[in-house]
Amino acid sequence: MKDIRYAPIGVFDSGVGGLTVAREIMRQLPDERIVYFGDTARVPYGSKSQDTIIRFSRQIVHFLRTKDVKAVVVACNTASALALETLQPEVDLPIIGVVTPGAKVAAETTANGKIGVIATESTIESQLYTRVIHEHNPRAQVFGKACPLFVPLVEEGWIKDPVTVEVANRYLEPLLATGIDTLVMGCTHYPLLRSVLRQIMGERVTLVNPAYETARELKSLLEAEGIANDGCRGDAKDTAQVGMHRFYVSDAANRFRQFANTILPFGVDTTQLIHIEDY
Ligand code: DGL
Repeated sequence: MKDIRYAPIGVFDSGVGGLTVAREIMRQLPDERIVYFGDTARVPYGSKSQDTIIRFSRQIVHFLRTKDVKAVVVACNTASALALETLQPEVDLPIIGVVTPGAKVAAETTANGKIGVIATESTIESQLYTRVIHEHNPRAQVFGKACPLFVPLVEEGWIKDPVTVEVANRYLEPLLATGIDTLVMGCTHYPLLRSVLRQIMGERVTLVNPAYETARELKSLLEAEGIANDGCRGDAKDTAQVGMHRFYVSDAANRFRQFANTILPFGVDTTQLIHIEDY
């Protein structure tokens, strides 16, 4: 019988952005193997309806199950906000998203009770960040702002471009005016804009990266369930990092691989294309 501790963790996103979450998991849980799926054929999720996001996410979880994963991380904020609650009771595996860990730490971090959340339109409309922050800090004031142009700017590689700074200034101005002391980067791509966000928000605003908090929560969860990889079988440490993780996409595998190679600390040689509508 297979020892579940050595099974991989399924991580999925609408596309490439979730690699920021995968990267954080690799950093904090170096013994764990990841099976990553990026839904590059159907990205973006951030402007789609809840029914669609649930259908897509369900198919992806079915696909990840075929890879015998021991847990699933919904690395996409939009899918975490719109589909996770529906999927959780359907799946007999530990499954976590990025919104709750990020919201929790923001609620605990703020000193003046004013928290900003930047995310996709669908995530902001779902109000999930606000709901979870209030569960942990009922008096907090939450200011949400959708920043839809950030995703294409990051994918274009314009991380520090003057155009990006200009766009960020426009989006963040109203948030700055509220006097927030904490800002949640509630979309997979936004941590890649950290230096621009820092420049505009200033040193006094704490930037919360849900990816970091999610990896921490995953670690506790695996330990609590007794399914953490102890590294004894050597899958992780003795295998070159590059061969340890698997990457799947629903379209444009080459483009994904190129982006992955700018984000991950090792080169991704192969990315497999699958037909996600079959799941
Ligand atoms: N991954 C998405 C998120 O974190 C951003 C990209 C998209 O809209 O699909 O919300």
